Amino acid sequence: MPPFRGGDPGSNPGTSTNKSSLNPKESIHDLKSYHYPGGFVGGTVLDIEAIRSDFPILDRRLPNGKQLVYFDNAATSQKPQCVIDAMSDYYREYNSNAHRANHTLADEATTALEEARSAIATYFGTSPDQMIYTSGATEAINLVSYGWARENLSKDDVVVLTEMEHHADIVPWQQLSKEKGIEVRYVPIDTESFTLDMQAFEIASQGASLVCVVHTSNVLGIRNPIERIVEIAHSSGARVLLDCAQGAPHERINFDSSGVDFVAISAHKMGGPTGIGCLLVKRDAMDQMGPFMTGGSMIKTVTTDGSTFQDGHAMFETGTPRIAEAIGWGAAVRWLDCFDMQEVHSHIHDIASWTAEKISQIDGITVYGDPSRNDSSGAVSFLHDTIQSQDLALLLDEGGFAVRTGHHCAQPLMDALGVPSTNRASFWIYNTMEEAQSFVRHLESVVARFS
Ligand code: ALA
Repeated sequence: MPPFRGGDPGSNPGTSTNKSSLNPKESIHDLKSYHYPGGFVGGTVLDIEAIRSDFPILDRRLPNGKQLVYFDNAATSQKPQCVIDAMSDYYREYNSNAHRANHTLADEATTALEEARSAIATYFGTSPDQMIYTSGATEAINLVSYGWARENLSKDDVVVLTEMEHHADIVPWQQLSKEKGIEVRYVPIDTESFTLDMQAFEIASQGASLVCVVHTSNVLGIRNPIERIVEIAHSSGARVLLDCAQGAPHERINFDSSGVDFVAISAHKMGGPTGIGCLLVKRDAMDQMGPFMTGGSMIKTVTTDGSTFQDGHAMFETGTPRIAEAIGWGAAVRWLDCFDMQEVHSHIHDIASWTAEKISQIDGITVYGDPSRNDSSGAVSFLHDTIQSQDLALLLDEGGFAVRTGHHCAQPLMDALGVPSTNRASFWIYNTMEEAQSFVRHLESVVARFS
């Protein structure tokens, strides 16, 4: 039974004896096999057809009659049926607030919320007390900025960022710099290899208090050398914040063994719903944090003279929790737990590297990133030298292909690459080589027609 936290005075502290049979908590592992025997001794490979059958949206036809080919997974992934069911079961059968009342539905909702926390924390190799539910990775990073950095950093303290960061991991630090006079240092990328300049990283980390790094770039698909980054940052005495919004759908993150101090995660890129994510926080870092958003649930007592706050993660979860979303995310991690993420990575890597190689041979197309690298996964960013990226996206959409277009909320990276925007095809577990082949054929015909 996961540890329950109390809520407002007089609330139900979460005595959960009344276990609901309605909650979608059982492992679905036994229900379905997602593997079929592979061609090597003792091996298995992913059964992509079985996986695809869990995603009703993949059968969708667009208004022009074209079959949907969904290659916008780095923006948000599609959701398996078990996630959709878990959320609609909650609304249909036991919708109620959590941690506040003593009736049956409230008890079932509280149980499901906390069981989801337990499943999610376990999935990320940590314990529920080191996990704070947030609205997503953006709020998780803001929580570090407001809850930890404002308490612990002052004028001239140094925060290290990289040119690969997404805006969510840049703007909060720029705001803090304006407010408190901290210094923000940016580590450049090497535009030949599309990797971080690790020599510059070592220099920038000297004397730093916090290093904020994206695990996997949403534009380049490159995974940063996290293990080395943690080693360098910690040897300089800096804490590390890892933005795993893109990493978590591609790799099994083990928080406790990573040595990282803060990890920000979004549910919706890993099969879960929008509107929820979490911050994983080492206990000693959490002890240094002060409240971020204040109000109900995060307090112990309130009088007209002042308030006292909950301890631990409960201090950072204010107001009515995202109950349906947490339950949906819990179902998503149980579903993902059916897979070996190395196999998932290999599957996605094969599609991405093949696609990148083929489209880089099309006249006028440049690929940004190096999807052939083993540590690269999922995203293929490209640009045509005469067809505007917005026009190209519409022409791809006409063929049924959903890709993202624009600066990908990473304008400093666009500046470093010397482009205003790119088109980006991003792949996940349910995509197939056949989809990639039809994408390449369609892109070839578009380029032949319009360039
Ligand atoms: N960060 C998300 C993306 O890359 C929204 O599309």
